[in-house]
Amino acid sequence: MSVLVTGGTGYIGSHTCVDFIEKGKEVIILDNLSNSKEEVVGFIEQITGIRPKFYNIDLLDREGVKRVFDENDIDTVIHFAGLKAVGESVAKPIEYYHNNITGTLNLIFEMRDHDCFKLVFSSSATVYGKPETVPIKEDFPLSTTNPYGTTKLYIERILTDLCVADDRFSVVLLRYFNPIGAHDSALIGDNPNGIPNNLMPYVTRVAKGTLPHLNVFGNDYDTCDGTGVRDFIHVLDLAAGHYAALKALEKSGVSIYNLGTGNGYSVLQLIDAFERVNNIKIPYQITDRRPGDIAECYADASKAERELGWKAVHTLDEMCASAWKFESSIK
Ligand code: NAD
Ligand code: UD1
Repeated sequence: MSVLVTGGTGYIGSHTCVDFIEKGKEVIILDNLSNSKEEVVGFIEQITGIRPKFYNIDLLDREGVKRVFDENDIDTVIHFAGLKAVGESVAKPIEYYHNNITGTLNLIFEMRDHDCFKLVFSSSATVYGKPETVPIKEDFPLSTTNPYGTTKLYIERILTDLCVADDRFSVVLLRYFNPIGAHDSALIGDNPNGIPNNLMPYVTRVAKGTLPHLNVFGNDYDTCDGTGVRDFIHVLDLAAGHYAALKALEKSGVSIYNLGTGNGYSVLQLIDAFERVNNIKIPYQITDRRPGDIAECYADASKAERELGWKAVHTLDEMCASAWKFESSIK
């Protein structure tokens, strides 16, 4: 039996494919390459010695999705494929709802038609909206502040309703905090198109000289040094969290886990760590707060440890070192 990884050539998906292949799973990738490149399949092969089967198919193409299930014996799906840029989702809400939600519906229709009932879904800490307290637990109230986040929340609800209606399904909703870093090989990592929205890819491009300086969005938050605090998690730990989540697929219904480290670091603390570990200066200037940002966001990750035996092990220094190693290896 195989594991289908949608969005498997993307940032988190590619690291998860490597982790699964190294743990003996047969992996099939479906991706429309809207935010990744086919060469990633070769990099996965270079790292693991095994080339996963790859389909350049859009989840919006239901016939294409059907073909993937017709041609393979798939019993589990890890569903990463989706659009993820918050600002773009505000400008193009319909495209975001269509891509993320219709894409997921096509996927679960085809799963059901092919007797495949196990699904792990990439959700996000964004579904907690503006939490009143930290650390954030899985049973905190849910809300969103932008269309991207709303697609995650709606998909969580759709999958929950599906499991209520059909007890053959088991679904794990993984709410990621802030993945950064890259594989030790520096072959795969976070390489967004255009000017990055997220902090770490921006920092690495400033380090490289591609961007002149970093804008730190506000230093007047009620935090240790006034800058935003986030739960940065090494993408390798996040990838391993998906393998651990397979355990929760053994029972039917929905299970929900935060995947974070449980520690918060501020923007300035991350810059400090990056500068120290890589011996590079990151010029920055303090600017206004970014609309929609919250002061602090970090996980209570104890449920995943208790129930899945999973815990993040990589340090912030390792995240900073691997992110820079990857960026500096890109031509
Ligand atoms: P990514 O953009 O690198 O990977 C997503 C992949 O999905 C891309 O390769 C893209 O080409 C593909 N894709 C998009 N729409 C598709 C479609 N209709 N059909 C087929 N393929 C399609 O993003 P990532 O950072 O690896 O994120 C993976 C998932 O995790 C996303 O669902 C994202 O929303 C979620 N997530 C990411 C973060 C983060 O900080 N990176 C945080 C929380 C949640
Ligand atoms: C953002 C998204 C969130 C998404 C997550 C992972 C927003 C409002 N939220 O979260 O929905 O799930 O990415 O994809 O976009 N920062 C700077 N300068 C920069 C970039 C960021 O100071 O150039 C700061 C931010 O203000 C924040 C921290 O760095 O305090 C982390 O930002 P970012 O990496 O964008 O992640 P989130 O805002 O946590």
